[in-house]
Amino acid sequence: RPPLRVALAGIGVVGGGVVRLLEANRDLIARRAGRAIEIVALSARDRHKDRGIDLSAYRWEDDMAALVAADDVDVVVEMIGGADGPALTLARQTLGAGKALVTANKAMIAHHGLDLARLAESTDTPLKYEAAVAGGIPVIKAIREGASANEIARVYGILNGTCNYILTLMEREGAGFAEALAAAQAEGYAEADPTFDVDGIDAAHKLSILASLCFGTKLDIGAVTANGIRNIIAADIREAEALGHRVRLIGMAERDEAGLSQHVQPCLVPADHPLAYVPGALNAVVAEGNFVGRLFFEGAGAGAGPTASAIVADIIDIARDEYGPAFAMPVDALDQAPVADAGAR
Ligand code: HSE
Repeated sequence: RPPLRVALAGIGVVGGGVVRLLEANRDLIARRAGRAIEIVALSARDRHKDRGIDLSAYRWEDDMAALVAADDVDVVVEMIGGADGPALTLARQTLGAGKALVTANKAMIAHHGLDLARLAESTDTPLKYEAAVAGGIPVIKAIREGASANEIARVYGILNGTCNYILTLMEREGAGFAEALAAAQAEGYAEADPTFDVDGIDAAHKLSILASLCFGTKLDIGAVTANGIRNIIAADIREAEALGHRVRLIGMAERDEAGLSQHVQPCLVPADHPLAYVPGALNAVVAEGNFVGRLFFEGAGAGAGPTASAIVADIIDIARDEYGPAFAMPVDALDQAPVADAGAR
């Protein structure tokens, strides 16, 4: 089969990781995908920034729209970030043109995922976003495909690597909040605006996506309540430990007769619970299905390599023509998400 030709938009920590991965594992990927996967064009705001990687072999487009217009591009990979703005414009242009879109952008999917999925369905085009939730953990695939025969009542977990890294550093090394955040930023875990991490907004984006997949409901980011870890101090962590608990930022979505609740908040996790053993920038997701039982997924939730791993897996699926509806089912078949009953639980 002819090579699958890919354009990358937004070459930051994750974009650099995707270039490195596609170069390093080129042959293995071609064998598994059944065809070569070639980067044909790149675009980012600053062409001349030193990214510590040689990009001179690739065509550069200053205007991202040119990636969509180019005849030699089959797939656009959006790594710009932000719910709206250039990322959303590029996503709409790509799907509208009938080209495949791979995105790592949880904010955009949480806010506009249904519209984008509708557009993708109208042009019969893949929309893939594995990297948007829990970094390198293939949890979208696991839930959308692997657990698709189950009624899922509850999904919860650690969905932000930056917060988990900060809490782990505060716990193990007695670091202060600001110092631990700076370390997470230096590792490339944090969002461009780390407020999204520490205030629980990034985890809320991911939780709303997981909830839609697990419950077959429409995405409803407005129904998620989010409280972050900004106000956690060292004494909270010490006191939690004295009580046999650890402080973790947990996202939890539950569906029952009363409706759907979606919350992100710091929680006291018993020290013997598996979520208490998720260190550093790792993430973990637990989903409870009525036939499969409890599923527990753990892995790197942030960082260049793991996020690139998820993005390239999506590209390989497209190369194999393995894709279906972006969410649990076609958009028109998704249930109306009930308004969250935030206060009642
Ligand atoms: N800033 C995010 C995190 C990156 O720390 O989890 C992965 O979505």
